[in-house]
Amino acid sequence: MNAVGPLPTAQPDFWIGDIPIHGRLILAPMDGISDPTFRWITRRLGSAYSISEFVNTLDYANQKHYQMERLAFREDERPFTAQLLDNTPERMAECAARIEAELHPDLFDINLGCSVRSVMGRGAGVGMMRNPGLVAEACRQVKAATHVPLTVKMRLGWDDHALNYMEVAEAAVANGAAAVALHARTGKMAYNGKARWAEIRKLKESLPVPVIGNGDVLTVADARRMFAETGCDAVMIGRAAKGNPWIFSWREREEVPLREVRDLAIAQYVEMERTYPHGAVMAFRKYLKAYLEPYALPSGELRALLTVADPGLFLGMLKRTFEELGEVREDIPNPG
Ligand SMILES: Cc1cc2nc3c(=O)[nH]c(=O)nc-3n(C[C@H](O)[C@H](O)[C@H](O)COP(=O)(O)O)c2cc1C
Repeated sequence: MNAVGPLPTAQPDFWIGDIPIHGRLILAPMDGISDPTFRWITRRLGSAYSISEFVNTLDYANQKHYQMERLAFREDERPFTAQLLDNTPERMAECAARIEAELHPDLFDINLGCSVRSVMGRGAGVGMMRNPGLVAEACRQVKAATHVPLTVKMRLGWDDHALNYMEVAEAAVANGAAAVALHARTGKMAYNGKARWAEIRKLKESLPVPVIGNGDVLTVADARRMFAETGCDAVMIGRAAKGNPWIFSWREREEVPLREVRDLAIAQYVEMERTYPHGAVMAFRKYLKAYLEPYALPSGELRALLTVADPGLFLGMLKRTFEELGEVREDIPNPG
């Protein structure tokens, strides 16, 4: 690995429009999790490209002080995708043009999967899938307003009575989408039940552009199984990445030695102190909890670490926790 991540293989693994993609595992966009620091870390570990947390273009258009940190990215994180979420093609296109002029992302993505009630209720996220004509228009207008490839990320449909992912994907592709990611659940399922990978296979068999499979990949073994069962071009990993960012290096969590977990946790926290000068401890807790999960720390100790608020105290405690774990386990590569 060089300073910015794995050296690209000579041949890209696949292309999104004219953007070469090196690698076949991708960090999923996750509001509150795939922040700039975590994206950068996962890119270094092998995630093939980066996708921002969703940018609600209703807020982006109306707020003078939009949280621009949602769109912050480093040059060495490219290819970088800005993800748009809204129900109004004109506004999405206007905002995309502004974002392109200001930040020069490599790709745009349209979120057709968000199942938060207030979002889908207003016809954004998976709510937009109920109106394939509107999806087509959003793709057409965003594509016309920008100069980089467009992707869409969708679900199977609104619910089991409206499994229209094929129609929506075809409308998106006909209007400029150069790749489609499919989270193989309906909006109604939210995150319940099992992702239906067979539908990813059907989409892959019928679309002329790359298909990215998503949903319930928890381990490297799951990712390999998704490739084998669906023939998808890439696998997108969300929730499991929070505890195992090394999954993008094709490593199962139990293959990662404690020392590496400690080094990554400290580096991530220190980096987050720069991005969140007033709230890094709180923002970092969710990752730390996931990193420490396999070690089964005594609950009092874990609670103490996860409730301390003072940054100076926190970093000291964090290092001590790993030292103590290391005294017992330093020579044991397996955390479990
Ligand atoms: C906390 C959280 C936030 C999410 N935010 C987004 C988002 O901003 N944009 C998006 O397209 N999907 C979002 N998703 C959905 C994920 O990208 C992914 O489709 C879903 O988690 C299924 O993949 P997984 O089983 O690997 O987690 C979010 C999911 C979670 C759990």
